[in-house]
Parts: sequence; C-alpha cells; structure tokens
Amino acid sequence: MSKENTPTPHIGAKYGDVAKTVLMSGDPLRAKMIAEKYLENPVLYNEIRGMLGYTGTHGGKRYSVQGHGMGIPSIGIYSYELFNFFDVDTIVRLGTCGALDASVKVGTVILSERAITDSNYGYQYHLPSDYQALASPELVEAAARSAEKLGIPYLKGLVCSSDIFYNDQAVQDEWAKQGVLAVEMEAYALYANAYMAHKKALTILTVSDNIATGDALTAMERQVGLKNMIEIAFDAF
Ligand code: HPA
Repeated sequence: MSKENTPTPHIGAKYGDVAKTVLMSGDPLRAKMIAEKYLENPVLYNEIRGMLGYTGTHGGKRYSVQGHGMGIPSIGIYSYELFNFFDVDTIVRLGTCGALDASVKVGTVILSERAITDSNYGYQYHLPSDYQALASPELVEAAARSAEKLGIPYLKGLVCSSDIFYNDQAVQDEWAKQGVLAVEMEAYALYANAYMAHKKALTILTVSDNIATGDALTAMERQVGLKNMIEIAFDAF
C-alpha cells in the first residue's frame, strides 16, 4: 500500500516526487527557507493547506524538506503518509522546545533519543505497554558525530511530546523529575510511526525557551539555532 495511495488528501505529490530522506519543520515557511537556501533546484511538490514540501539536492544527494504543522495529530498524518505511501526511509525533524531545567541554556541543541508523551497517539495501534518511542540509534550517533565535527555543543536524552503547549507547572515538575530535558509537541508520533513502518527517525531540537528561567531566544538567535540544526542534518544524513 504505497504508490496507489498517492497523491494523498494532504500531500499532493506523485509517488517518486519525494526523496528518501526528508527534513521536516513545524513551520512550512521554515521548510521553504531551508529549501531555497540549502537545496539546488528545489521543486515544490505540495501546497495543500500551505504545508509546503520541496525536493532538491544538497552535496549531490536528493532531499525533501517539508512542513509538518504543530502537534502530534499533524505530524502523525504527514509522517505516516511519507513513510507508508511515499516510501520515505528517513525523517529528521528540526524543531524547537522548552527546556525544563534552569541549567539548560536557550540555543542548546538537543538530540532527542527518546520521547515520552501525555498523548493517546499509540493507543489504537496496540503498541505494547513497554513500548519506548526511540529515535533510530544510528541517526543519533551520526548527528552527534557531525555536531562534534562542526563544533556545535549538544545534549542528548529524553524529551516529552505533549499535546499541550500551556502545560500545568506541577506536571512539568513531574516530567523534570523523570529526567525530561525539554518539552515539544511531535517527536513521539514521529518515532511511533517510524517504529511501525520499520523506518528511521530523529528529532533535533533547539531550546527556544527555558520554562524554569523564562529566558527565550530572540528572533536572530532562533536563526542561529536553526542554522546549527540544518548544518548537523546535512552533514550527518
Ligand atoms: N512547549 C512545547 N513546545 C514547545 C515549547 C514549549 O514550551 N517551546 C517550543 N516548543
């Protein structure tokens, strides 16, 4: 069940229009910027709902770059279709997150090795109760090696993919006690979809705000964070 399901109601591309490796970001305009700045000959393959997707080459390798929107339901749809209908092998999400511990500075890159969630996303797929939403270890390793080579400091570890942006402080305190470095809204669904489809996935995050201290990146600093993640991704994958 792949080719015959394309185009999908959400991705108006023909089978083969999407590369085997897809970089994704929540904001479709960020995907556009990455495509226009980093891809040679980017070709727009999707405009449905403004969730822009482009395919081009970088360093001789074919990549797609696509938006995924906000939250687990949204990335759940796009990553499911990319893995199962467009036969994408690898999805790397480049996103932002809120750090829970005061010691984690804004601008820090986090390689999200594992995600817990408050979402019910896995329920109807009958994932076992001991299912762990893991990034593909080889992608974590490759990204870590590239970050070191490029001199970009990073942390790797546990994140929480929440259905809620404006979380209750007491709940965030519990997550911090469990060792959660940061809160975002998508990694869990991406990892669950990759697991079920036997594909590869990683979420690379920049800390855009620190929930404990109230620090936040300026617009300019966000660009630097994004640049670091893009450079890691194109070097590693
Ligand atoms: N919570 C969830 N997602 C986020 C946050 C946050 O505080 N910051 C950036 N993405």
